[in-house]
Amino acid sequence: MKYFKSIPFFILTVFIISCEIAYAQKENTLIKLESNENAPIISKHIYGHFAEHLGRCIYEGFYVGENSTIPNSEGVRTDIINALKELQIPNLRWPGGCFADTYHWMDGIGAKEDRPTIVNTWWGGVTEDNSFGTHNFLNLCEELGAEPYLSGNVGSGGVQELADWVQYTNYKGTSPMSDLRRENGREEPWTVKYWGVGNEAWGCGGNMRPEYYVDIYRKYATFMSGADVDGGLYKIASGASNDDYNWTEVLMKNIPKNLLQGVALHHYSVIDWNAKGSDVDFNEETYFNSMKESWLMEELITKHTAIMDKYDAKKEVDLIVDEWGGWYDVAEGTNPGFLYQQNTMRDAMIAGMNLNIFNNHADRVKMANLAQTVNVLQAVILTEDEKMILTPTYHVMNMYKVHQDATLIPLSFDSPMYKFKEASLPALTVSASKDSNEKLHISFTNIDSKNGNTVSIDLNGLNVKNLTGSILSSDSLQDHNTFENPNKIIPRNFEDFKFKKGLLELTIPPFSVLVLEGVK
Ligand code: AHR
Repeated sequence: MKYFKSIPFFILTVFIISCEIAYAQKENTLIKLESNENAPIISKHIYGHFAEHLGRCIYEGFYVGENSTIPNSEGVRTDIINALKELQIPNLRWPGGCFADTYHWMDGIGAKEDRPTIVNTWWGGVTEDNSFGTHNFLNLCEELGAEPYLSGNVGSGGVQELADWVQYTNYKGTSPMSDLRRENGREEPWTVKYWGVGNEAWGCGGNMRPEYYVDIYRKYATFMSGADVDGGLYKIASGASNDDYNWTEVLMKNIPKNLLQGVALHHYSVIDWNAKGSDVDFNEETYFNSMKESWLMEELITKHTAIMDKYDAKKEVDLIVDEWGGWYDVAEGTNPGFLYQQNTMRDAMIAGMNLNIFNNHADRVKMANLAQTVNVLQAVILTEDEKMILTPTYHVMNMYKVHQDATLIPLSFDSPMYKFKEASLPALTVSASKDSNEKLHISFTNIDSKNGNTVSIDLNGLNVKNLTGSILSSDSLQDHNTFENPNKIIPRNFEDFKFKKGLLELTIPPFSVLVLEGVK
């Protein structure tokens, strides 16, 4: 009798234990949205871009010339202009990169037939005819509604040359440079606020030591004056490569704050500079290593910020990540000096992860520039003759644009891990913001190649009534858009969430980017 009585009890116990095991296995990550009273604005400039005279970025990319049969505005392709307008690009950095420290801006103004040529020594050794110059670039920025960010030549150009560029582009009154601008057909100045004082001064910009560059910076920045720009020019020092913390330390210690508004940082997701690997033909190990390099951005920003905090507790100087993105071997059969690569779901992961990192560091990171806009490295746009395609990275930037100038909502959670062999990485990055219309946006990137990750978020207190979502995902990591199949990867609506009484639960599928919008 005793034996029979215990059977139902035994069954019940087994049932409860198995329920508990099943529950424990279904990892559910709790994401806590914190109060945003003193949270920073996510500067729209985090969503900036970069266009260098490199390979087919400017020529055969943006610029096809006024006489091209491809529809254009002052020689710039209208399909590219429209795509970038849709993206609401807030700024565009130009003309380099390494090219900037070889560029003499006066070669690119005046009658095209009279412009001298130069050899693009950094990129493919091609002859540059200077047909795309200052007027083309600044007019393009005006058309895009984007702020221009000019990279000044400090490596091989003189102080007067850079000071003259500032006057040419910005001075309203009468001066030799503003008169020359008028002679070349532009009455009003363009009002260029953002100026880089050299690029990669530690490398292609002159192989300088930081102590030397600091003095060079101070000299150039001193003479960049007389510009009619509200609030003055915003000058950006050529910053560290990756974890060169000493570079940031020397700059922060020795450049007076009145001369310095931003300090740059460059970090590319490269697995090995001597064996970068194929853009499209990669295995999971390579993918994991790309994600590891991409995730390093979190540590780099944290550590460079800590150094900046030491010298600038009030956060008056900004961290500007003016080059970032994935870098692989060039696409098969293309010029090694042109850095043309395809763009797969791996790049979508790099984009989603880095933008979440930048958003969450919005108190110090005020600008970032993806390298590069068209046909170079992690491009948002690829062209082939008259054809143009948008890459997965374009779609991520487009989905995330909702964060531009919105107030950050800080959040906390313990990320589930993406495990590969003995190693692991946080699988999820997430950022949230509230825009000026009180709309809530949460962006998630799950880099795990195999597992979806379930999250719960308590939205009570945020007064959200309706939620909509969009997702970028595909069947394989190597998937990409091609000129034959341009819409293989495009965002789709996402409704696969439970949202009840302010509690949200959803599963972010493997290697996907997801953005939710909540309205009152
Ligand atoms: O974006 C390509 C190159 O990478 C840039 O010209 C240079 O600044 C960096 O090394």
